[in-house]
Amino acid sequence: MNDDVVYLDNAATSYPKPYKVYEEIQKYLMYYCANPGRGGHKMAIYAGNAIYEARKDIAGFFNINNPLRLCFTKNATEALNIVIKGILKPGDHVITTSMEHNSVLRPLKYVEKCLGVEVTIVWGNNFGEIDADSIRRSIKKNTVLIAASLSSNVNGTILPIEEIGSISRENGLMFLLDSAQEAGSINIDVVKMNVDFLAFSGHKGLLGPPGTGGLYVRDGINLKPLLHGGTGSNSKSSEQPELMPDLLESGTINLPGVVGLATGIRFIRNIGIENIAYYKQLLLKRFYESIKDIKGIKIYSLTDNSKNSGILAINFSGFDSSEIASILDTQYGIATRGGFHCAPLAHETLGTEKQGLVRFSIGCFNTIEEIDYAANALKAISGKLVQ
Ligand SMILES: Cc1ncc(COP(=O)(O)O)c(C=O)c1O
Repeated sequence: MNDDVVYLDNAATSYPKPYKVYEEIQKYLMYYCANPGRGGHKMAIYAGNAIYEARKDIAGFFNINNPLRLCFTKNATEALNIVIKGILKPGDHVITTSMEHNSVLRPLKYVEKCLGVEVTIVWGNNFGEIDADSIRRSIKKNTVLIAASLSSNVNGTILPIEEIGSISRENGLMFLLDSAQEAGSINIDVVKMNVDFLAFSGHKGLLGPPGTGGLYVRDGINLKPLLHGGTGSNSKSSEQPELMPDLLESGTINLPGVVGLATGIRFIRNIGIENIAYYKQLLLKRFYESIKDIKGIKIYSLTDNSKNSGILAINFSGFDSSEIASILDTQYGIATRGGFHCAPLAHETLGTEKQGLVRFSIGCFNTIEEIDYAANALKAISGKLVQ
């Protein structure tokens, strides 16, 4: 554990991880790191079983009935690309929102330019709140997909996902949910939320290591794979297997990563996701109350607990956000992210397209002392900089 840093950059990736995650990764790397599904010897079978158990547990976490509909990817970006490039055809129409990360916006821009897919962006209000009815009103005859994130990585605003899922189902569309930001502190139920594709990052709120993520594809939907290659199955054939997860899982699986991710998810289950959500909200509220009256501060995040995933996005008027993040880092040992956050339309929505913003993102291992320390650092910075 790095005691020199107050880590408030959990929206980028979570730190620290539960101790058990480190232990399991090390155990698999040291003793069981054979290639799962690629051999009949004991070590390969042990590795294959670990992947099977991980797939089962992770599927259960999202209420995915058939674990074979879940494939592992290296991150949420890969999962989102698989869907956007694997399902859309020329002339199709997609609806998305202004609060999306570039991992949704850029593949959509690509299919718009290269395939002639039509894209409609539904804009959020000043805090990035999305009106589900605007999504409903954007549906056209050729609409096939709605792509939306659970919450914004820029300011934490949670989107009305259950409503969007219902709209999608009622209109016979497919719904792609990018859960990179909220998975691990909100219950995600792909059945209840009418999710057809669930993309997730393993390394953020799910507490796994970098290089992990996944994609759920609802039964009955066929996707074109992004990659073709060895799967350990049907080895005599030069055709890509059509069955999931092999269809989308070419190449050697990141065994220690997937084991680490499953361990992170089991940790969350043991603690209770509602306890994690409650604790993060407690810290968020305390942070907001301590900084809201600081001279010169502007806050871009909602403070209503049910609408914010655990991010406080701020600026000091007239100061560059990267400069403030750098002062926090070098003078106070606080890790945040300044500048721009891979979501250009979200910055436009919030009015921070020129200066960016400083993002404090809370994780389940932050303490009250760390939150108070960060609030005091902001008070001190304001005292020095703001006239
Ligand atoms: C909302 C959102 N979607 C997708 C991603 C991409 O996640 P990954 O780094 O796992 O590819 C991020 C990363 O920050 C994100 O915040």
